Amino acid sequence: MKIKKAIFPVGGLGTRFLPATKSMPKEMLPIVDKPLIQYAVEEAADAGIEQFIFVTSRGKSAIENHFDHSFELENNLLSKGKRDTLKTAQEMLKIPGSFAYVRQQEPAGLGHAVWCARHLIANEPVAVILADDLISGSSTIKQMIDNYTSGNMLAVMDVDKRDVSSYGIITPGKALGNNVTEILGLVEKPSIEKAPSKMAVVGRYIIEPAVFEILEQQNRGASNEIQLTDAIASRIGSSNCSGYKFSGERFDCGSKLGFIQANIKLSVQRSEMKKKLKSWLQDEILDGKI
Ligand code: G1P
Repeated sequence: MKIKKAIFPVGGLGTRFLPATKSMPKEMLPIVDKPLIQYAVEEAADAGIEQFIFVTSRGKSAIENHFDHSFELENNLLSKGKRDTLKTAQEMLKIPGSFAYVRQQEPAGLGHAVWCARHLIANEPVAVILADDLISGSSTIKQMIDNYTSGNMLAVMDVDKRDVSSYGIITPGKALGNNVTEILGLVEKPSIEKAPSKMAVVGRYIIEPAVFEILEQQNRGASNEIQLTDAIASRIGSSNCSGYKFSGERFDCGSKLGFIQANIKLSVQRSEMKKKLKSWLQDEILDGKI
């Protein structure tokens, strides 16, 4: 099935990264030299997504500027003959009209953010990508689209039992092949005692149009927010709900630890830094000097 649109909820306040995020969107924080949101957009583009819909909020204009021309910068690089750097500055540009922005006026939850994009979605399944969840390797949303037939599909992975209360947690059903698992139930941020498994939802979704109708009710759930998980859960029994066990490594870049881990891991993978960074890590960290 062809999926051409992706929603990127980027309205969050990023309070876990203050003061860095006081006047800068958390999605613009770099992993090595590229902002988190660019990784997400590239993952979507690799999956054949053609329309990129950002649900923003006040103070997020840096994201819009990032995916637009910067004539001063480009002219400067051109006049200095820095063609490679110019290419880097232009590589996030897509054909005109590919990017759309809608405002989420209040931080009322992920479900609310997705609902804010409703007028840009026709009667079609759509991808949802959370830039905070960086997944290295080949495009996870492409893997999901390749295996999607109907209903709702969510990326899932096993997490530490102690961490279940930070995630949407699924009740897994039977294995359907190609890393796809049936989902029998879904609960947002359960306590350890109430969690049906330790298989968590990670920020990649393919949602069916009916989810928007449910979000319309504006029912609040965990953390008194309108939860995407709840809307998807209420479709179980009426349409297919499946989990996709992706192959890449996921970094929780919404947390400082995950963000630093992603920076270290992806830096070590860069040929220009690999040797020096590895030997520095060995000498300064592993040998216990710090
Ligand atoms: C959101 C979702 C949750 C999911 C998580 C993945 O939570 O509500 O179901 O497991 O993303 O990162 P948040 O991290 O925004 O609290």
